[in-house]
Amino acid sequence: MRVKGLGVVYVSEEGEDSAGHGSAEKPFKNAAYAVYVAPDAKVMQKKDGQYEEISASGLKKAKKGAEGLAKKAEKARQQATAQAEKEAAKLAAAEAIQIEKPDLAAATKRIFEIDSESDERIVVKGWVQQLRVQKGLAFMVVRDGTGYLQVVLSGDLANCARTQTLTLESTVAVYGKIHSLPEGKHAPGNRELVADYYDVIGLAPGGQDAFTNKVQEGADPSLLMDQRHLTLRGETLSSVMKVRQAVLDGFRAVFKDLHLTEVTPPCMVQTQVEGGSTLFKFEYYGEDAYLTQSSQLYLETLLPSLGDVFCIQESFRAERSHTRRHLSEYTHLESELAFLSFDEFLTHIETVIVRAVEYVLEDPIAGPLVQKLNPGFEKPKLPFLRMTYEEALKWLNDHEITNEEGKPFEFGDDIAEAEERKMTDAINQPILLNKFPLTLKSFYMKKTPEDARVTESVDVLMPGVGEIVGGSMRIDDTDELLEGFKREGISPEPYYWYIDQRRYGTCPHGGYGLGVERLLAWLCNRYTVRDCSLYPRYTGRCKP
Ligand code: 4AD
Repeated sequence: MRVKGLGVVYVSEEGEDSAGHGSAEKPFKNAAYAVYVAPDAKVMQKKDGQYEEISASGLKKAKKGAEGLAKKAEKARQQATAQAEKEAAKLAAAEAIQIEKPDLAAATKRIFEIDSESDERIVVKGWVQQLRVQKGLAFMVVRDGTGYLQVVLSGDLANCARTQTLTLESTVAVYGKIHSLPEGKHAPGNRELVADYYDVIGLAPGGQDAFTNKVQEGADPSLLMDQRHLTLRGETLSSVMKVRQAVLDGFRAVFKDLHLTEVTPPCMVQTQVEGGSTLFKFEYYGEDAYLTQSSQLYLETLLPSLGDVFCIQESFRAERSHTRRHLSEYTHLESELAFLSFDEFLTHIETVIVRAVEYVLEDPIAGPLVQKLNPGFEKPKLPFLRMTYEEALKWLNDHEITNEEGKPFEFGDDIAEAEERKMTDAINQPILLNKFPLTLKSFYMKKTPEDARVTESVDVLMPGVGEIVGGSMRIDDTDELLEGFKREGISPEPYYWYIDQRRYGTCPHGGYGLGVERLLAWLCNRYTVRDCSLYPRYTGRCKP
């Protein structure tokens, strides 16, 4: 941009050669640039902190430099014009190519149901995931949520305007026949659709708004999270979501085998389960209510009517912690079982986890995805290592891992996330960490018969993630339960329905809650649970 008639321009070492500069406050950097931009202006140059008029020899040199800049600019302009003309000509040629829709019947197929051996003409509809356009040949990878398919376009179909202006994430309907891949070539499923025609259903934006500009790899995580609806289209996130579905299917299949009934307890509640500090409170027709932290209490009340039960329900925690394993809303898989001992309870938990994982690994879609995300993953061996809280303290002290105050662990200390992770990662196998002190646990946990200081409680710890399950045997005696409420300073009044579970035919029972995103982080080797939730909610994030 050159400006005629500009009176004075300023130049300084600290300046910048760009638009908006040239004043005493925002000077240019080079005198040559100043002369190029404002050929007839007086050039003031900063020397020893003061502006003074440029010397005659300095000006001569600057004019020469400005001539060079002018030549360069003219060349760039010519090149840009030539390029634009070339592209316009290419597009005009592409537009001149008329593509007629062939009048041939085609069977609509989703990618997973394509028969690679068939000679049938098919039509596949999906999103353009990858695109490479060359002269006379174009390749795209189309995605339809059931798989990926390479499509080859050749001749006019590659050269026509539709292909030349096609963009990533556009939707297309591609017609053609399946061919096996030429020797030495690679594509999903070792096959490709050789297209004889295709339609664009929805053209995605190009240029500034192009998909790849919206979700750039390595961009700021918060910006990427704003574009979650687009990042979910990526192969990694969508793979985790596919595995997630198999995980839920797997648990449902195992629970069905074990004759558990699935239920859907309410999310809006007026009682707490895991401590008041993480409750999300809201106004409910003039009364206080909360988003559920856990469906446990409701599950317990269902034992007499439905027998053993489970639910897969969202739980909510107003977590202050910004850790990689805490969400404000997470999918909580909870189960409650009647008439069993603590030992049977522990065996149930490990068996259910391993059987659900087996189910996922055997699934034709999810199994290979787990191997892709977490190469070499093997289902854990049974039985899991059983370790009491006190044994864990000894292990930590023996390994010189200290408590939060930097001192050796003592009975009653909480084992914080970092220390727990160090231990779990070092042991490198699933651990059933059990018998936590009463003082660390919730009001409902049953004491062990041999030691009233500790509870029949368990956390399942997995390498890389830490705790994925928390559970316990429940107090089944009314008076003892009332004592628990008292100890925790909770009014028993709103819990009348929960207490009645003990009064109207009590039974020994226990249950647990598994964080689905944490299990996925372990199974799919993801750094954070945020990568295992569709639209994660965490401190300060409730969109999109
Ligand atoms: O250990 P928690 O708090 O136990 C309960 O809620 C019991 N009432 C469950 C029961 O016995 N039915 O939570 C259980 C599991 C944890 O082990 C963890 O996997 C997950 O829920 N979890 C979270 N996951 C993600 N973000 C959070 N903020 C979580 N808090 C708990």
